[in-house]
Amino acid sequence: MLKTIEKFIIKSKYILPNSLRSLSTATTIDEREIKNFEKHSESWWDQGNEGNALHSMNFLRVPFIRDGLIDTCIVNEKYQDTAAPLTGLKILDVGCGGGYLSEPLARLGGKVVGIDASNNLITIAQEHANKDKSLNNLTYMVSSIEDFSSKNQEVFDAVVASEVIEHVNDQSRFLNECVKCLKPEGSIFLTTINKTLLSKLFAICVAETMGILPVGTHEYDKFVEPHILQRMLEDNNCCTRIIHGMFYNYITNNWSWVSDTSICYAVHAVKTSS
Ligand SMILES: C[S@@+](CC[C@H](N)C(=O)[O-])C[C@H]1O[C@@H](n2cnc3c(N)ncnc32)[C@H](O)[C@@H]1O
Repeated sequence: MLKTIEKFIIKSKYILPNSLRSLSTATTIDEREIKNFEKHSESWWDQGNEGNALHSMNFLRVPFIRDGLIDTCIVNEKYQDTAAPLTGLKILDVGCGGGYLSEPLARLGGKVVGIDASNNLITIAQEHANKDKSLNNLTYMVSSIEDFSSKNQEVFDAVVASEVIEHVNDQSRFLNECVKCLKPEGSIFLTTINKTLLSKLFAICVAETMGILPVGTHEYDKFVEPHILQRMLEDNNCCTRIIHGMFYNYITNNWSWVSDTSICYAVHAVKTSS
Protein backbone atom coordinates (compact mmCIF):
# COMPACT_ATOMS: atom_id res chain seq x y z
CA MET A 1 0.00 0.00 0.00
CA LEU A 2 2.76 2.44 1.02
CA LYS A 3 4.65 1.60 -2.19
CA THR A 4 1.54 2.45 -4.27
CA ILE A 5 1.12 5.82 -2.53
CA GLU A 6 4.83 6.56 -3.01
CA LYS A 7 4.55 5.73 -6.76
CA PHE A 8 1.48 7.96 -7.07
CA ILE A 9 3.29 10.90 -5.44
CA ILE A 10 6.32 10.48 -7.74
CA LYS A 11 4.05 10.20 -10.82
CA SER A 12 1.93 13.21 -9.90
CA LYS A 13 5.10 15.32 -9.68
CA TYR A 14 5.76 14.47 -13.33
CA ILE A 15 2.24 15.44 -14.35
CA LEU A 16 2.40 18.87 -12.71
CA PRO A 17 3.64 21.69 -14.95
CA ASN A 18 6.92 23.31 -13.86
CA SER A 19 5.15 26.43 -12.57
CA LEU A 20 3.07 24.37 -10.13
CA ARG A 21 5.88 21.98 -9.34
CA SER A 22 7.98 24.80 -7.94
CA LEU A 23 5.15 25.63 -5.55
CA SER A 24 5.25 22.11 -4.13
CA THR A 25 7.80 23.03 -1.44
CA ALA A 26 8.97 26.41 -0.27
CA THR A 27 12.64 25.47 -0.58
CA THR A 28 14.91 22.66 -1.68
CA ILE A 29 16.94 23.18 1.49
CA ASP A 30 16.47 20.59 4.21
CA GLU A 31 17.66 22.45 7.32
CA ARG A 32 18.34 19.24 9.21
CA GLU A 33 20.78 18.15 6.48
CA ILE A 34 22.55 21.50 6.40
CA LYS A 35 23.00 21.45 10.21
CA ASN A 36 24.45 17.96 9.91
CA PHE A 37 27.06 19.09 7.37
CA GLU A 38 27.89 22.17 9.43
CA LYS A 39 28.86 20.00 12.41
CA HIS A 40 31.84 18.82 10.35
CA SER A 41 32.69 22.01 8.50
CA GLU A 42 35.79 22.85 10.58
CA SER A 43 37.49 19.56 9.68
CA TRP A 44 36.32 19.52 6.04
CA TRP A 45 39.85 19.68 4.58
CA ASP A 46 41.68 17.70 7.28
CA GLN A 47 43.48 14.58 6.13
CA GLY A 48 41.77 11.45 7.40
CA ASN A 49 38.49 13.14 8.31
CA GLU A 50 35.11 11.71 7.46
CA GLY A 51 35.02 13.69 4.24
CA ASN A 52 37.87 11.59 2.88
CA ALA A 53 35.68 9.38 0.68
CA LEU A 54 34.22 12.51 -0.88
CA HIS A 55 37.66 13.98 -1.49
CA SER A 56 39.06 10.81 -3.04
CA MET A 57 36.02 10.65 -5.36
CA ASN A 58 37.79 13.45 -7.28
CA PHE A 59 39.95 10.77 -8.95
CA LEU A 60 36.82 9.65 -10.80
CA ARG A 61 34.60 12.69 -11.00
CA VAL A 62 37.11 15.31 -12.15
CA PRO A 63 38.15 13.35 -15.31
CA PHE A 64 34.50 12.34 -15.81
CA ILE A 65 33.47 16.00 -16.00
CA ARG A 66 36.53 17.11 -18.01
CA ASP A 67 36.17 14.32 -20.59
CA GLY A 68 32.39 14.71 -20.76
CA LEU A 69 32.86 18.36 -21.67
CA ILE A 70 35.56 17.56 -24.22
CA ASP A 71 33.41 14.81 -25.80
CA THR A 72 30.38 17.07 -26.15
CA CYS A 73 32.58 19.57 -27.98
CA ILE A 74 31.85 22.59 -25.88
CA VAL A 75 35.46 23.12 -24.88
CA ASN A 76 37.49 25.50 -27.00
CA GLU A 77 39.75 23.43 -29.31
CA LYS A 78 42.58 25.84 -28.65
CA TYR A 79 42.79 24.65 -25.02
CA GLN A 80 41.74 21.01 -25.47
CA ASP A 81 45.25 19.55 -25.23
CA THR A 82 46.54 21.95 -22.60
CA ALA A 83 46.61 21.61 -18.81
CA ALA A 84 43.58 23.91 -18.69
CA PRO A 85 41.13 22.38 -21.20
CA LEU A 86 38.09 23.97 -19.55
CA THR A 87 39.30 27.52 -20.19
CA GLY A 88 36.41 29.76 -21.20
CA LEU A 89 33.69 27.49 -19.76
CA LYS A 90 31.36 28.69 -17.01
CA ILE A 91 30.76 25.94 -14.47
CA LEU A 92 28.30 25.96 -11.56
CA ASP A 93 29.07 23.61 -8.63
CA VAL A 94 25.77 23.28 -6.75
CA GLY A 95 26.11 22.22 -3.11
CA CYS A 96 29.88 22.70 -3.34
CA GLY A 97 30.44 22.15 0.41
CA GLY A 98 34.04 23.07 1.33
CA GLY A 99 35.10 23.09 -2.34
CA TYR A 100 36.62 19.64 -2.94
CA LEU A 101 35.35 19.65 -6.53
CA SER A 102 35.19 23.38 -7.30
CA GLU A 103 38.95 23.81 -6.85
CA PRO A 104 40.18 21.16 -9.34
CA LEU A 105 37.58 22.28 -11.90
CA ALA A 106 38.91 25.82 -11.60
CA ARG A 107 42.49 24.53 -11.94
CA LEU A 108 41.43 22.96 -15.24
CA GLY A 109 40.63 26.47 -16.42
CA GLY A 110 36.85 26.65 -15.81
CA LYS A 111 35.30 29.86 -14.51
CA VAL A 112 33.71 28.18 -11.51
CA VAL A 113 30.96 29.41 -9.20
CA GLY A 114 30.39 27.25 -6.12
CA ILE A 115 27.13 27.72 -4.25
CA ASP A 116 26.05 26.12 -1.01
CA ALA A 117 23.18 26.61 1.41
CA SER A 118 25.61 26.55 4.33
CA ASN A 119 27.27 29.80 5.33
CA ASN A 120 29.92 27.90 7.38
CA LEU A 121 30.91 25.68 4.49
CA ILE A 122 31.22 28.58 2.06
CA THR A 123 33.52 30.32 4.59
CA ILE A 124 35.66 27.16 4.81
CA ALA A 125 35.70 26.85 1.00
CA GLN A 126 36.70 30.49 0.55
CA GLU A 127 39.46 30.32 3.21
CA HIS A 128 40.90 27.22 1.57
CA ALA A 129 40.80 28.73 -1.94
CA ASN A 130 42.52 31.89 -0.65
CA LYS A 131 45.64 29.80 0.01
CA ASP A 132 46.09 29.27 -3.75
CA LYS A 133 46.46 32.60 -5.51
CA SER A 134 46.06 30.95 -8.91
CA LEU A 135 42.38 30.28 -8.12
CA ASN A 136 41.21 33.72 -9.26
CA ASN A 137 38.60 32.10 -11.55
CA LEU A 138 36.70 30.58 -8.60
CA THR A 139 33.90 32.38 -6.71
CA TYR A 140 31.81 31.14 -3.83
CA MET A 141 28.36 32.24 -2.76
CA VAL A 142 25.92 31.23 -0.02
CA SER A 143 22.69 30.41 -1.81
CA SER A 144 20.02 27.82 -2.36
CA ILE A 145 19.79 26.61 -5.95
CA GLU A 146 16.34 28.20 -6.40
CA ASP A 147 17.50 31.69 -5.34
CA PHE A 148 20.54 31.41 -7.55
CA SER A 149 18.68 30.09 -10.61
CA SER A 150 16.15 32.93 -10.51
CA LYS A 151 18.99 35.36 -11.34
CA ASN A 152 21.20 33.10 -13.47
CA GLN A 153 19.10 31.47 -16.18
CA GLU A 154 20.98 29.85 -19.10
CA VAL A 155 24.32 31.26 -17.91
CA PHE A 156 26.43 28.11 -17.42
CA ASP A 157 28.05 25.66 -19.85
CA ALA A 158 28.05 23.00 -17.15
CA VAL A 159 26.23 22.41 -13.87
CA VAL A 160 27.64 19.92 -11.39
CA ALA A 161 25.78 18.56 -8.36
CA SER A 162 27.89 15.85 -6.81
CA GLU A 163 26.49 14.01 -3.77
CA VAL A 164 23.81 16.66 -3.27
CA ILE A 165 20.46 15.47 -4.66
CA GLU A 166 20.18 12.85 -1.89
CA HIS A 167 20.28 15.68 0.67
CA VAL A 168 17.61 18.05 -0.69
CA ASN A 169 13.87 18.56 -0.32
CA ASP A 170 11.90 17.95 -3.54
CA GLN A 171 14.43 16.35 -5.88
CA SER A 172 12.50 17.06 -9.08
CA ARG A 173 12.36 20.76 -8.25
CA PHE A 174 16.07 20.73 -7.37
CA LEU A 175 16.90 19.32 -10.82
CA ASN A 176 14.57 21.76 -12.52
CA GLU A 177 16.35 24.68 -10.82
CA CYS A 178 19.80 23.28 -11.75
CA VAL A 179 18.80 22.89 -15.41
CA LYS A 180 17.46 26.48 -15.51
CA CYS A 181 21.05 27.70 -15.01
CA LEU A 182 22.31 25.68 -17.99
CA LYS A 183 22.72 27.07 -21.49
CA PRO A 184 21.11 24.98 -24.26
CA GLU A 185 23.49 22.13 -25.14
CA GLY A 186 25.19 22.56 -21.78
CA SER A 187 26.01 19.55 -19.61
CA ILE A 188 24.75 18.49 -16.20
CA PHE A 189 26.82 16.08 -14.10
CA LEU A 190 25.41 14.34 -11.04
CA THR A 191 26.72 11.72 -8.66
CA THR A 192 24.46 10.12 -6.10
CA ILE A 193 23.35 6.90 -4.38
CA ASN A 194 20.94 4.29 -5.72
CA LYS A 195 17.96 3.12 -3.67
CA THR A 196 18.72 -0.57 -3.14
CA LEU A 197 19.32 -2.97 -0.28
CA LEU A 198 23.04 -2.95 -1.15
CA SER A 199 23.24 0.84 -0.95
CA LYS A 200 21.46 0.78 2.40
CA LEU A 201 23.95 -1.79 3.63
CA PHE A 202 27.11 -0.06 2.33
CA ALA A 203 26.29 3.67 2.23
CA ILE A 204 24.51 3.68 5.59
CA CYS A 205 25.19 0.62 7.77
CA VAL A 206 28.83 -0.15 6.88
CA ALA A 207 29.92 3.46 6.20
CA GLU A 208 28.50 4.74 9.49
CA THR A 209 29.62 1.76 11.58
CA MET A 210 33.18 2.01 10.24
CA GLY A 211 33.25 5.79 10.80
CA ILE A 212 33.68 6.47 7.04
CA LEU A 213 30.68 8.81 7.28
CA PRO A 214 29.22 10.56 10.34
CA VAL A 215 26.09 8.88 11.73
CA GLY A 216 22.93 10.32 10.13
CA THR A 217 24.65 11.49 6.89
CA HIS A 218 22.22 9.59 4.68
CA GLU A 219 18.50 8.86 4.74
CA TYR A 220 17.51 5.81 2.73
CA ASP A 221 14.24 7.42 1.59
CA LYS A 222 16.18 10.15 -0.19
CA PHE A 223 18.28 7.79 -2.29
CA VAL A 224 17.28 7.86 -5.95
CA GLU A 225 17.16 5.10 -8.53
CA PRO A 226 18.97 5.79 -11.84
CA HIS A 227 15.81 5.37 -13.95
CA ILE A 228 13.95 7.91 -11.77
CA LEU A 229 16.83 10.39 -12.07
CA GLN A 230 16.97 9.82 -15.81
CA ARG A 231 13.23 10.45 -16.10
CA MET A 232 13.45 13.64 -14.05
CA LEU A 233 16.25 14.80 -16.38
CA GLU A 234 14.14 14.00 -19.46
CA ASP A 235 11.28 16.03 -17.96
CA ASN A 236 13.70 18.93 -17.89
CA ASN A 237 14.79 18.52 -21.54
CA CYS A 238 18.02 16.76 -20.67
CA CYS A 239 19.16 13.70 -22.53
CA THR A 240 21.31 11.21 -20.59
CA ARG A 241 24.66 10.44 -22.27
CA ILE A 242 26.30 8.25 -19.67
CA ILE A 243 25.43 6.43 -16.45
CA HIS A 244 28.37 4.73 -14.72
CA GLY A 245 28.41 2.73 -11.50
CA MET A 246 31.02 3.78 -8.93
CA PHE A 247 32.58 1.55 -6.30
CA TYR A 248 34.34 2.72 -3.15
CA ASN A 249 36.96 0.54 -1.52
CA TYR A 250 36.75 1.41 2.19
CA ILE A 251 40.15 -0.10 2.93
CA THR A 252 42.22 1.66 0.27
CA ASN A 253 40.05 4.81 0.09
CA ASN A 254 39.94 4.39 -3.69
CA TRP A 255 37.05 4.75 -6.12
CA SER A 256 36.70 2.83 -9.37
CA TRP A 257 34.22 2.72 -12.26
CA VAL A 258 32.04 -0.39 -12.34
CA SER A 259 29.18 -1.45 -14.62
CA ASP A 260 26.94 -2.10 -11.60
CA THR A 261 25.01 1.00 -10.50
CA SER A 262 23.41 -0.61 -7.46
CA ILE A 263 25.30 1.48 -4.88
CA CYS A 264 26.77 4.75 -6.24
CA TYR A 265 26.59 6.16 -9.74
CA ALA A 266 27.46 9.15 -11.91
CA VAL A 267 25.33 10.68 -14.66
CA HIS A 268 26.17 13.02 -17.53
CA ALA A 269 23.21 14.52 -19.41
CA VAL A 270 22.98 17.26 -22.03
CA LYS A 271 20.27 19.92 -22.26
CA THR A 272 18.55 19.95 -25.64
CA SER A 273 18.67 23.16 -27.65
CA SER A 274 14.88 23.76 -27.89
C1 LIG B 1 27.60 15.73 0.68
S1 LIG B 1 27.88 17.43 0.53
C2 LIG B 1 28.66 17.47 -1.06
C3 LIG B 1 29.69 18.56 -1.18
C4 LIG B 1 30.39 18.64 -2.55
N1 LIG B 1 29.46 18.61 -3.65
C5 LIG B 1 31.39 17.53 -2.70
O1 LIG B 1 31.03 16.50 -3.30
O2 LIG B 1 32.51 17.65 -2.24
C6 LIG B 1 26.27 18.12 0.16
C7 LIG B 1 26.26 19.64 0.15
O3 LIG B 1 25.04 20.12 -0.43
C8 LIG B 1 24.63 21.30 0.25
N2 LIG B 1 23.19 21.49 -0.02
C9 LIG B 1 22.18 20.68 0.36
N3 LIG B 1 21.00 21.15 -0.10
C10 LIG B 1 21.28 22.26 -0.84
C11 LIG B 1 20.47 23.18 -1.60
N4 LIG B 1 19.16 23.00 -1.69
N5 LIG B 1 21.07 24.22 -2.24
C12 LIG B 1 22.43 24.39 -2.13
N6 LIG B 1 23.24 23.54 -1.41
C13 LIG B 1 22.68 22.49 -0.78
C14 LIG B 1 25.00 21.00 1.71
O4 LIG B 1 25.14 22.16 2.48
C15 LIG B 1 26.32 20.25 1.53
O5 LIG B 1 27.43 21.12 1.59
